[in-house]
Amino acid sequence: MLTTSALLPVYAQFPIRPVRGRGSWLIDDEGAEWLDAYGGHAVASTGHSHPDVVRVIAEQAEQLLFYSTVVPHPNRERLAERLAALAPDPLDRVFFANSGAEANENALHLARKRTGRQTIVSVAGGWHGRTVATLAVTDGARYEAGAVRAGMPLSRKVPFDDVDALAVAVDDTVAGVIVEPVQGMTGARDCAPAFLRAAREICTERGAALLFDEVQCGVGRTGAFTAAELYGVAPDALTLAKGLGSGLPISATIVGPFLSEGLASGDLGSTFGGGPVPCAAALATLDVIERDGLMANAARVGEHLARGARALGVRQVQGRGLLLGLRFDRPAAEVQRALFARRILTGTSSDPAVLRLLPPLSFSLPEADLLLAGLKEVLA
Ligand SMILES: Cc1ncc(COP(=O)(O)O)c(C=O)c1O
Repeated sequence: MLTTSALLPVYAQFPIRPVRGRGSWLIDDEGAEWLDAYGGHAVASTGHSHPDVVRVIAEQAEQLLFYSTVVPHPNRERLAERLAALAPDPLDRVFFANSGAEANENALHLARKRTGRQTIVSVAGGWHGRTVATLAVTDGARYEAGAVRAGMPLSRKVPFDDVDALAVAVDDTVAGVIVEPVQGMTGARDCAPAFLRAAREICTERGAALLFDEVQCGVGRTGAFTAAELYGVAPDALTLAKGLGSGLPISATIVGPFLSEGLASGDLGSTFGGGPVPCAAALATLDVIERDGLMANAARVGEHLARGARALGVRQVQGRGLLLGLRFDRPAAEVQRALFARRILTGTSSDPAVLRLLPPLSFSLPEADLLLAGLKEVLA
């Protein structure tokens, strides 16, 4: 048995030791198959070890494993062009890093730099990462405490979907408003379109930057490439990570002219960000998502899951596409454990009653039916 005693004990562990993965399935160390409706925390966008993604990674690794951003590389340039084309106008410039927190950290940094202001407004239930600046805008006492200990001023939090509170909070000291169009941690809570539209208007009017954290909900998960597109609201910066590289660490901060203006060499940086191999993985991921119609699949299968869950008596289904939250009359952790016993992986959330589904975007209708059948047994 593998020992984890040298690791810091910071992660709760699922009861599985996966050794292989294919599509929506994991094979454990005893050869048993598990249906993965958690997707390695929304990372396995194209499914586990998609052969086309793996091949492209191997080819690039063989060609040139790494060189830093001190030299240009066609993968980095092509990926930036693809993302700029996929992001809503006027987002047209991209900075690459390695994690969601870094992408958000850079978006916050750019908002403060551009406006010369310090305060950030964020939304109750929002979750943005574990660096000091992202902890300061994340909701929850234990996260905020980490920022306070480091001397970082906390964001002003407004209640979820509360336009009036937002209008009051965004004054002329505010550099930016950071929001997840579909919140991940709270269990796939999707913002009202009117809230995001109002956020756009308020930010423009007060000279603040609107920052969309699409680290979890982006890269096709809602059924559109970005939730910004789905909602028809263009932020000043949009961050992507998790599903972007199908499992290799890569994140992107995509900005429009408001935040790119005046930037010069050395204003941002990352040794590993935009390396040839993660960029190759992201290019292959985009190819598979487009070629296999995975965004339409996420919308279709998400609808099917939502309908099926409601038919089983699930009290409320929230979220978009394949980022769904199922609200039960019993603790979600109990439902998750019962599904584990049936070799089905799902996620919980910060809301004890909400179970989170974030399967690969390639999750099929028969796989959705297997998940619903498992749920039916658990809820019986
Ligand atoms: C919405 C959102 N933002 C930021 C992050 C942080 O990403 P990372 O863990 O890659 O730093 C996460 C991670 O769960 C997330 O869900």
